[in-house]
Amino acid sequence: MERFACGVLSRWTVCRLQRCRQSHIQPSAGAPSLVLGIETSCDDTGAAVLDETGRILGEALHSQNEVHLKTGGIVPTVAQCLHRENISRVVQEALDRSGVPPSALSAVATTVKPGLALSLGIGLQFSLNFVRLHKKPFIPIHHMEAHALTVRMLSPVEFPFLVLLVSGGHSLLVLAKGIDDFLILGQTLDEAPGDTLDKVARRLSLIKHPKCSRLSGGQAIELLAKEGDRRQFPFKSPMGQQYDCSFSFAGLRSQVTMAIDKKEKEEGIEPGQLLSCVGDIAAATQHTIASHLAKRTHRAILFCKAKGLLPQDSPTLVVSGGVASNEYIRETLRIVTDATGLQLLCPPSKFCTDNGVMIAWNGIERLKEGKGILSHTQEVRYEPKAPLGRDISAEVRDAAIKIPPLKLKIKC
Ligand code: KG4
Ligand code: ZN
Repeated sequence: MERFACGVLSRWTVCRLQRCRQSHIQPSAGAPSLVLGIETSCDDTGAAVLDETGRILGEALHSQNEVHLKTGGIVPTVAQCLHRENISRVVQEALDRSGVPPSALSAVATTVKPGLALSLGIGLQFSLNFVRLHKKPFIPIHHMEAHALTVRMLSPVEFPFLVLLVSGGHSLLVLAKGIDDFLILGQTLDEAPGDTLDKVARRLSLIKHPKCSRLSGGQAIELLAKEGDRRQFPFKSPMGQQYDCSFSFAGLRSQVTMAIDKKEKEEGIEPGQLLSCVGDIAAATQHTIASHLAKRTHRAILFCKAKGLLPQDSPTLVVSGGVASNEYIRETLRIVTDATGLQLLCPPSKFCTDNGVMIAWNGIERLKEGKGILSHTQEVRYEPKAPLGRDISAEVRDAAIKIPPLKLKIKC
């Protein structure tokens, strides 16, 4: 199968794959399954209509990124207000582009957990009104389950596979055993890597940088890091003495903040002005995050191998979530998968960040297996906090696997 160097499916391959899958699908007795997916768990209002082969018939997305950049972070009441203003239009656009009338939908799938309460509430209320009006089944979706399964829309990956989910709200290493069956090997003890990148970008006032004014923190750091020299700021990699798969990024953020404070004094500038060495700080921050993610993932792979949790044939690591868009992080992880004999699959960037497509696909997967499908009359609540699966991180910690040293030298 044609892939980019790090196992990313090219756009062309994705289209071809979808066409080819379509032609192999046996026509079902009834009409093909069509699912409307709706995402509002954080700051993106997304909607999409997919058929059972994963073909995207119509999609629409409204990003609140620019607004939140100006306010210096996501203000939940602002996010709620913007979801409320945009959700009808976004869903209507996705439906119009698909040419599918609501009456032809098999079900509506919507993120109900985890996420910002006020944001989840808007998507859920809209969806419940919609399914009641059109008398359609409702499929509540776990946001991180959707990130984990997106890859199966693009590539025929069988369970079980290992997944690293990294976003603005999460940092998780999980073994996906089935569409709703996950083992948590490790997760963040404090903040998520996307949150760290966003906060560092804010502390560096990257919104004032001519190349970064419209980019998320993670995107801005990735862009500026290309021009920087990470060796100028040798930040300490987190949790070197803990032989588990947990993550921690708060300590790194303190190191970065202290380095910025010091440089501002040296350069005689006030916080809020751009430092001359933003590229070096971006490169060092990105590298330390990439190396921390790679080391914990390496240990998770060795743990899964030792316990026989991954298949002998084509063991796979999937990386998804907004931070997985980062090429440097992907390349660092590729060094780990090359050394351990796993194939690395990363969905294209647009499917890594939040969108309605991944929610609709999760709905298709659940519809196929008949799991978690509710009638339009059932009550559903949103859950701001919700574990993705059974936590076996204590078992991973007790195994105390030491990872062999790997040279994480990246060019991009
Ligand atoms: O999955 P996502 O869209 O929303 C959450 O569920 O959190 O992830 C958003 C996060 C943000 O923190 C953003 O800064 C980060 O993903 N992100 C990136 C990149 N693009 C987005 N981080 C690093 N490199 C990128 N290219
Ligand atoms: Zn997400």
